[in-house]
Amino acid sequence: MRLHHLFGLLAMLVGFGGLPATLQAEEKSGISALVDAWLKSPHGNYHSPSFTYWNKQGEIPTACAACHSEPGFLDFLGTDGSTAGVVDHPGVINSPIGCASCHSAEAHALNAVRFPSGVIVDGLGTSATCTVCHQGRQSGAAVTKAVANLGEDEVSAELGFLNIHYGVAAATMHGTETGAGYQYPGKTYAGRFFHVPSANTCVACHDPHSTKVAVDDCLSCHRGVEQLTDIRMRHGDFDGDGDVKEGIQGEIMTLHARLGESIQAYGRDVAGTPIGYHKDRHPYFFRDTDGNGTISDEEAVADNRYQAWTPRLLKAAYNYQVVKKDPGGYVHHPTYQLQLLYDSLESLSEQIGMDMAGITRP
Ligand code: HEC
Ligand code: HEC
Ligand code: HEC
Ligand code: HEC
Ligand code: HEC
Repeated sequence: MRLHHLFGLLAMLVGFGGLPATLQAEEKSGISALVDAWLKSPHGNYHSPSFTYWNKQGEIPTACAACHSEPGFLDFLGTDGSTAGVVDHPGVINSPIGCASCHSAEAHALNAVRFPSGVIVDGLGTSATCTVCHQGRQSGAAVTKAVANLGEDEVSAELGFLNIHYGVAAATMHGTETGAGYQYPGKTYAGRFFHVPSANTCVACHDPHSTKVAVDDCLSCHRGVEQLTDIRMRHGDFDGDGDVKEGIQGEIMTLHARLGESIQAYGRDVAGTPIGYHKDRHPYFFRDTDGNGTISDEEAVADNRYQAWTPRLLKAAYNYQVVKKDPGGYVHHPTYQLQLLYDSLESLSEQIGMDMAGITRP
């Protein structure tokens, strides 16, 4: 057998051309480690609701397909020869985010991404694909548009809850630049959180294949903490609970819980219909029919969705969900989350007489 034939066969077996055999073997094991990491990741989870939710319908509507189906994403990128930036065909079910999603010429070239607010962010590099799917589906501007000229405390049957959607890391990270939150007039909001140069993009912190964060890298700077949620770099008592040693995540969680309570007080005392939140049931806010402060599975049904919205209540509830649907927000952009929570609370406090003393806006 001629030497180049042997080489061709070897290359075919290993799947790579042009490398010496030993190197090919190393490359192969690197790839299998990467495939294993992907298979264990949420992106490679064939059974997740993110990829099976539409199985009864048999296809994924174009409005959902870009982020919930590999062929849908290829359609969005134009990798399938169709127009880039739109989804032309329904997506295929049971088709998670595989290698080809992020490794086409179009995906590698993608650098600028449009957000729901209409703002386009450029220079995203290897984090551009992540940003397409983790940007959410609503913006503060959509809330402004929905409430139009209604009086702030006027109950309107025209209003319904607006849901930012899920896993909205990129929406948080860019802060006021992309305006994911409802931003109150007259207030200023933080722009993109740049953190530190070595940890300021999605893939600088998340391995793109496992999606996991290498915690040791964080702890090389953030010394003396047991877990990431204990990290805090500043001194303010943002939630007013007197504890200035807890992690910044604790400040956010406490303020978020206070916002939940204030939303309930406003629904009961101002809108005139008790309201509550169910964390697993769309559209999340329901009428608290028995007024016991929690939403049971029986109450969390479509017909019982909350329908006594006022503009003030909708804005606060929208921001409640913006923070809720980015559990990594304490890392992605703690300042933006704290600002949205503070301003939502302050707005409600004008009607429910809640005491804002002790709470600090960053
Ligand atoms: C811009 C991208 C994007 C679009 C468009 C999109 N989704 Fe999603 N969706 C996501 C992401 C990202 C997640 C997963 C978040 C996570 O688990 O962190 C998700 C999760 C879900 C889930 C699982 C929810 C859960 O609680 O785990 C459902 C159901 C869902 N989406 C429905 C829809 C429907 C219906 C549509 C179309 C009307 C849609 N999505 C459009 C990005 C998108
Ligand atoms: C969600 C997007 C995404 C998916 C899915 C994905 N990759 Fe990647 N991959 C990336 C990004 C981004 C990089 C570049 C990382 C960097 O430059 O820091 C990368 C890098 C690589 C590299 C270069 C070596 C390395 O580790 O950086 C190889 C090889 C690779 N991917 C193969 C695969 C294979 C095989 C699959 C399927 C099992 C896959 N990728 C799935 C986003 C993805
Ligand atoms: C084509 C859309 C798409 C792209 C591109 C994408 N993601 Fe995702 N991502 C999703 C969906 C959908 C889920 C939820 C999967 C599931 O429920 O199993 C998810 C889940 C995740 C999770 C886990 C969330 C959780 O609930 O535990 C992380 C972290 C994540 N993605 C980060 C990234 C990063 C980093 C990138 C870029 C390298 C990226 N994603 C690219 C759609 C996408
Ligand atoms: C400074 C590092 C850092 C950056 C930058 C970063 N993340 Fe995260 N992200 C984290 C950490 C830490 C968590 C919390 C993870 C955990 O608890 O495992 C997280 C959580 C998440 C989650 C939710 C996981 C869950 O449990 O639901 C998603 C989705 C996600 N990030 C995607 C992204 C995307 C997309 C980007 C880029 C727009 C990004 N992240 C930028 C560090 C980062
Ligand atoms: C090179 C050093 C360095 C690395 C690596 C690093 N950080 Fe940071 N981190 C900082 C600095 C400095 C700040 C303050 C930035 C600011 O407020 O502008 C910060 C801020 C934070 C905050 C906000 C704290 C607060 O009180 O507002 C969190 C949370 C955080 N980092 C988590 C992480 C996580 C998670 C990782 C790993 C994925 C990480 N950091 C990696 C240096 C680092």
